[in-house]
This record gives sequence, structure tokens and C-alpha cells, in this order.
Amino acid sequence: MSDTADALLARLDREEKIRLLTGRDAWHVPGVERLGLPPVTLTDGPHGVRLSRTLDLRETEPATVFPVAAVMGATFDPDLIEQVGEAIGREARRLGVAVLLGPGINGKRSPLAGRNFEYYSEDPLVSGRLAAAFVRGVQAQGVGACLKHFVANEQETRRFVIDTRVDVRALQEIYLRPFALAIREARPWMVMAAYNQVNGEPCWASPWLLETVLRRQLGFEGVVVSDWGAVRDKVAAHRAGLDLEMPGPNPEGEAALRAALERGELDEAEIDARVRRVLELLLRARAAAEAASPEVDFEAHHALARTVAERGMVLLEDAQGMLPLAPGRRLLIVGRGAERLRFQGGGSSQMNPSRTPELLAALRERAAIDFEPGHDPDDPERDRELRARAIAKALDADAVVLCLTGGALDDAEGVDRKHLFLPADQRALATALCAAQPRTVAVLFTGSAVDLQGLRPGALLWAGLPGQAGGEALARVLFGEAEPGGRLAESWPRCLAHTPAHGFFPGDREKVEYREGVFVGYRHYDSKALPVAYPFGHGLGYTRFDYRDGSYEAATRRVTLTVQNIGARAGDTVVQVYVHARAPYRPKPEHWLAGFARVHLAPGESRRVTVTLAEDAFAHYDEALGRFAVEAGDHELRIGASSRDIRLRLPVTVESTDPVRPRPGWRDTVEEWLADARTAAAMREALELLGCDARSPAYSCVLGFHVDMLLDRFAPGFGVDAETIAAARARLTATQA
Ligand code: BGC
Repeated sequence: MSDTADALLARLDREEKIRLLTGRDAWHVPGVERLGLPPVTLTDGPHGVRLSRTLDLRETEPATVFPVAAVMGATFDPDLIEQVGEAIGREARRLGVAVLLGPGINGKRSPLAGRNFEYYSEDPLVSGRLAAAFVRGVQAQGVGACLKHFVANEQETRRFVIDTRVDVRALQEIYLRPFALAIREARPWMVMAAYNQVNGEPCWASPWLLETVLRRQLGFEGVVVSDWGAVRDKVAAHRAGLDLEMPGPNPEGEAALRAALERGELDEAEIDARVRRVLELLLRARAAAEAASPEVDFEAHHALARTVAERGMVLLEDAQGMLPLAPGRRLLIVGRGAERLRFQGGGSSQMNPSRTPELLAALRERAAIDFEPGHDPDDPERDRELRARAIAKALDADAVVLCLTGGALDDAEGVDRKHLFLPADQRALATALCAAQPRTVAVLFTGSAVDLQGLRPGALLWAGLPGQAGGEALARVLFGEAEPGGRLAESWPRCLAHTPAHGFFPGDREKVEYREGVFVGYRHYDSKALPVAYPFGHGLGYTRFDYRDGSYEAATRRVTLTVQNIGARAGDTVVQVYVHARAPYRPKPEHWLAGFARVHLAPGESRRVTVTLAEDAFAHYDEALGRFAVEAGDHELRIGASSRDIRLRLPVTVESTDPVRPRPGWRDTVEEWLADARTAAAMREALELLGCDARSPAYSCVLGFHVDMLLDRFAPGFGVDAETIAAARARLTATQA
């Protein structure tokens, strides 16, 4: 097996090269049989293997359905997500899959976005770290992972054509950063170029995105594949840097490519570079296929899916201490969602589970329960009857578990939500039930935040879309065999009008403007001090923790603190470290996450915990410098259990030689000169000379003058003599060296 991509490339003729740049069909990359390179299979992702053998996408191979990425995000647990990657990688290898189309690492600028369930977090560090872990796990099995969708693909509305207008800073700090982290840490085999445009160029045909950013800045060395059906101009796509168009076949596109090569409009060397990368993929896949296929223990994978669901479930509130439920109580379960669990989202990530998810059976193993559907979305009369019956029974029960889901098209690829409310029938049921029976635990099976419109159940648990083991996980959590270990990786707003992209989502037909810039998620809510329903990082669990004795070592970027479990049960906490900049030159969010660590402690146990901050913890993308830069100055590290529950604060002075804050010059204002230590004294003296110091009536206007205007226009105009102006100028010139 001493084949190299270069050696193989040299043996290909032009037709063979052209053929390698397009899928053979929906799911296969053609191989080169005469050179012993078999075709390879790509398949979705990202929550398990969704392999279809026929054209009917409903008939896919059974495989373990893990909780959706939004739930994985809420675990804040890269080690666990690496295990998920390993398990999915093993199942993929067993089914002969070469590349799994995931993870999805787009952002969450609006909770309306239909595919938010498929993405980890509104925070790029959380997304990037978890994606890296997932990719490492998958690829350790000899299966490639594919980061998607590159980039700024944050909505479903008109997703194939929409032009995302986003400033470079937001693109770099928020939307590219998860890709940057995952590429650097885990070297994925593949990146999927998105359907949408970014600032006027389609992602799949943008030389700036594909070459300048992805290859040069982020150092990506694998295959760039198009999202399915994205390519509308094959020559432009490959010229820009796309390696592989999916799906195929595309004879017209190939003919256009052939003609462009013949006419010399496309350089053969460019095409060779694309083909070489496809050959590298084929070689990697062949090497994996030749190794022994791993054993797949579906029981173990199901158990792992259950652990992820437990660790990702978020207890949002429990004022009465209802949870965990005491055994032996008369329990009423309400909601059709309990019968037919909504355990995954819709669209290309939808799979055929290896085991049917069961909630009611899992609950029956633990308690005597009664069940009522409680609502009917299609028949108003029956809806009223069912509601009345559920309420009558609820009055007799010791506690009620109410399972709520989104509408039929919520949490699905292809459509965005229009509002954040629950479907009307479930809303009516929930309101009536919570009023009748205060001991109601509401469980939400949704892929993203919802607006409960003031509903206050006794306890509120977000189960997410918890995968095929979600029923057992919920039963275990309700009865305290496991704790709800999740912390929100996405803020829950009070209402849609408070959300960062409100008014600019999903845009106006041909374009969507990301006007909120870097102020996404808690970066928005916390900067504006807006009340939220539940903040980023929030989650109660079944015990409480004390954080104390924090310290920071700049050389290693390590925060150390003592964490103690001060409750009566074992449990996990997610220590979060945020950075706040005191007086930044460029506007910055109130604070941003720079590191996190999940810690498990026995009751009473305390431990010194270390959180290493991200390498770029203090950096911002500086548009003037055209790169990431660190601004020197006073910062505060905020250590907490959510972005709104800060327990410890550590002052930090950051040192840096990056010229973030340019020295004020002639085109800057008097006020800016006075605010800068390098020019303030000279300016005060110059103003004194010119007779317009703080006592002068024109002082406020003077503060706003550009310094060259002051010297060249205003001072002479107000009768200051040339000699005095020259003296003032000389004093100011001395600062400019
Ligand atoms: C989706 C991708 C998916 C692909 C193949 C596209 O429509 O955007 O996420 O991997 O289809 O199913």
C-alpha cells in the first residue's frame, strides 16, 4: 500500500480527474477501480449513522440515535462527546461508511432557526471544543468527520440562496471560531461548504472563504465538499476551491469543466490540487476498510446515549423541591409527547433508531402510573374532553408529569419557527393543569428555547430532543437515579422581541443582515442587561455547590478554585470562567466565556479545580489590523455557575504588544488626545497656549475638533497668532514620533 495521492494523480487522465470531482450518486464518491480505489460512502450525521440502502430515505439502517447536538452542548463535556464520536464512528465503520456528515457547528442568532437543535451552542468556544472532541472520536475509528455548514448558515428560510451580510469581526469571532478550533484541535477529513452566500459570494464558490480563510487562515487540509445540491456553477466552484460536488451525477457541469480546461480558462494545476485531496480521502477510506471492522456493542451505545441525555437535561427550575420524585406516589403522566417521544429532529439528521424510545414503560418499571393524553391538536371538541379528563385525574394525583413538545414543523431542517410558543392545545392544557395541580413537573421536548408565556409549573425540566434512550434517561432523572446534569448552552429569552436578531431574522428575501454583530446570545442579553427567562450556563441539578478561593496564573492561563458540593447528593457542576474587559478600545460584549470545566463531587466533597483558559481568551478580531489581537489593559475574570450567577471575580492586567489602540494623530479629536496617556499632557499644554482650555466657553466644541482642524482652521479664525499656533503644533508634533 505504498500508493500516494501524488503517484496516483500522475496516473490519471483528464477524464478520470473530472469524474473524481462529482458524486457518483447521492451518497458515493466515485473511486478509480483500475487503480484499486473503490468508491466511498458519505452519510448523515450528526447524531448517529443514517445510512440508506435504497432511494427511500425512510428506510435507513437501524443505528443508535444519540441526543441531538443541542443536548450534547448542554453537557459541556468534551470527554463524553468524544465517546459519542467513537461510538458513531464504530457504527459507521461497521456499515462501511467513509465519512459521517457532521458535526454541525453553526451559530444560534435566533431561537427561531429550524436547525438550532443540530448545533451545539450559541457560544463559539463550547461549539468548537465539543466539535473537536466529536471529530477526534469519529476519526479515531478510521471514519472521517465533516464540519458543516461553512459558514454563516444560521437559518432555514431561503437557505439555498440567502445572502448573509455579516461584518468580518462577527464572522471571525462568532461564526468561524468553532471551525477554527475544531480544525486546529482535531484535523477533520472534510468541511461542507454551505448553500448560502456570505457578503455576496456563495460559500461553495468563494475564493475568499475557501482559500484565504479556510485553507490559509484556518489551515484546513482535507476535502471541501458542497452541501447537497448547492453547486450552480461547477467551474466557478472548483476555481474558488471546492474539491467535491455532491450529489452527482452532473454531466452538464462536467462538460463545462472539460470545456473550461480545454479553453485554458481553468488551470489544470488547480484541478490537480482538488483531485489530489479527493485521492487522499479515497486512500484514507481504503486503509480503514482494509483494517478489521470494529465490534459494535449496541447495548453499550444505547447506555452511552442515555448518559448523554441525562447529562444534557437541564433542570430550569424547582422552587418547591419537587424533584426527584419520591417513590410510591400516585403519578399522573400527561401529554401525547409521553406516548410518542419526540427524541430527534426532522430533516437530514433523522434516523431509524436501533431501539424504540420508551418513556411510559420506563416509568412503569419505577412507579404505578396513570396516563392521559390531555390534548388533541386536530379535534377541538376532543381536545376539550381530554383536557378536562386530565385535570380531573390530576387533582387526585400526588404529582403530575406533563410532557410538552413543539409543533409539527418545529425543530426541523428546511423551516424556521415563526414564534417561540408551544402549540395552542398544549398551552391551554399546561395552563389549566398547572393552575389545578401545583405539583406539576413540566418536561419540554424541544430543540431550542421556548417562551412559556408566564407558565409556572412546580418544576421545569428541559429534556431537549434526547435520542433513543431519552425515555429511560428521563425516568431515571425524575426518580433520582441520575441527576439532570445539563447547563444551558443557549440563553432562554423572556420573549422573541428581546432576542439579538429580532427584526433582522430571517432577513428580507434576498439578504439577511447580522446587525447584532458579535452581540449574540448572552453576549447580547448580558451587555444590554436584559432580563432573561433562563441564562446561558444555567441548570440546577439536585445538589448545590460553593465556589471559593479563586486565583489566576497568567503564564499558564490557569484559573484555580475550590469547589465544594454542599448538598446531600452527589452531582456535577459546570464551572464557567468569563472575561470582562474594563475599558476596551473597541466595543466588546459585557463578558465572554473563556473556559469551562465539568466537575463531579460526592456530597460534602471539595476539590481544587483548574480551568485552563482558551489560548485566545483575551483576543478580539481587530478589523483595522486584519487579524486577531489582544488589547493590553485591565480585565476581570468572572467565575460562575451561569453568565448571570458570578461567584468570584479576579482582577487581571493583560499585557500585549499588539497595536490595538493606535496613538491619536492629526485626524483624531482633541478629546481622543486627552484620553490617551501618550498624548494627553501635550494636548493640555497646547490648549493652554491656544487659550482654549477647560475654562473657555467653546471648550465642548473644541473637544470634538480634529486636531488638524483646530490648528489649521479654527485657531487662526479665532485670531490666535501664527507664532503661538506654531508653538502648539511643535508641542503636539513631539508626541507623534
Ligand atoms: C443538509 C446537510 C446534509 C445534506 C445531505 C443538506 O440538505 O444541509 O446538512 O448533510 O443535505 O443530506
